[in-house]
Amino acid sequence: MTEIATTFDTTVNLGATGLELPEMGAARIHVDDKQIINCRADLNQLVPFKYEWAWHKYLNACANHWMPNEINMSADIALWKSKDGLTADERMIIERNLGFFSTADSLVANNLVLAVYRHITNPECRQYLLRQAFEEALHTHAYQYVIESLAMDEGRVFNMYREIPAVATKAAWALPYTQSLSDPNFHTGTPETDQRLLRDLIAFYVVFEGIFFYVGFTQVLSMGRRNKMVGTAEQFQYILRDESMHMNFGIDVINQIKIENPHLWTKPFQEEMIELIRKGVDLEYQYALDTMPRGILGLNAASFREYLEFIANRRLTQIGLAEQYPGATNPFPWMSEMLDLKKEKNFFETRVTEYQTGGALNWE
Ligand SMILES: [Fe+2]
Ligand SMILES: [Fe+2]
Repeated sequence: MTEIATTFDTTVNLGATGLELPEMGAARIHVDDKQIINCRADLNQLVPFKYEWAWHKYLNACANHWMPNEINMSADIALWKSKDGLTADERMIIERNLGFFSTADSLVANNLVLAVYRHITNPECRQYLLRQAFEEALHTHAYQYVIESLAMDEGRVFNMYREIPAVATKAAWALPYTQSLSDPNFHTGTPETDQRLLRDLIAFYVVFEGIFFYVGFTQVLSMGRRNKMVGTAEQFQYILRDESMHMNFGIDVINQIKIENPHLWTKPFQEEMIELIRKGVDLEYQYALDTMPRGILGLNAASFREYLEFIANRRLTQIGLAEQYPGATNPFPWMSEMLDLKKEKNFFETRVTEYQTGGALNWE
């Protein structure tokens, strides 16, 4: 019979996990006991809130709940089946983006659940992470729903991330930034490991969700604006709105870690993060070239370069780094309108069903 290990390395200041045995009669939790990483206080107590922004983002996310199968796909099905409804370039945009996103959102979900969650030692942030993980499941559901509705070859689309270089490159870039945190022997609590966590959060929240999604979103949404693949575009519009919240939550977490651990934000580390983001812009620009070899829909490679530089400048300043692309402007101002949360009333006008509220449920 193998002996179960009951000891672990106590030389590292391990944070709580939430799975510790409760200590009877221990002092109650105070707001000041809470810390975003390396917290040793009980993680099963949501209140008192310390990070109100995290709780509000959780509430906002719940208020924007949607389901992929509520979106009418019939116009897309007819257009996809018709011989001359779409050009070869337009078909490629739809297929390649479904190929990228259908596995990318699973990767993000796995990163959250298997890598990030354990190291964020705060209940209100974890509450949002749980909601985000569910939203990532909905996004994978949405892509699967589109692929199934259009009767695409599922094997071909879901395998693009290991068969089509344009799709594979971004996923391959991201993997090292989740593998360290998901290692069971990895623990935060030293400057090196805390920087590793911060780096991996920037890689996933700022680059992967904040840059790597934006060429695909722009391409598919611009088709929707031209009345093509409107159901698919609507799915992407909901997803874009969710993703914008994920990224903003990640940026708040990153900035909170910086506030509580200013020693991590060294000059060499800042330079490393700038390079990380610049690399992200280059890879996403390559993705634009590979998915759209000829300009279509009024979009071209130069406008995507400008757009990526514009959003990268914003991401950089949001985490306290200098803009890297002076003078970049937004060639797609309509994209900002797409994710403007203040427009959520208009956004929901196309919904085909209403949610049942608790009071309206019928239990018969
Ligand atoms: Fe997602
Ligand atoms: Fe996301």
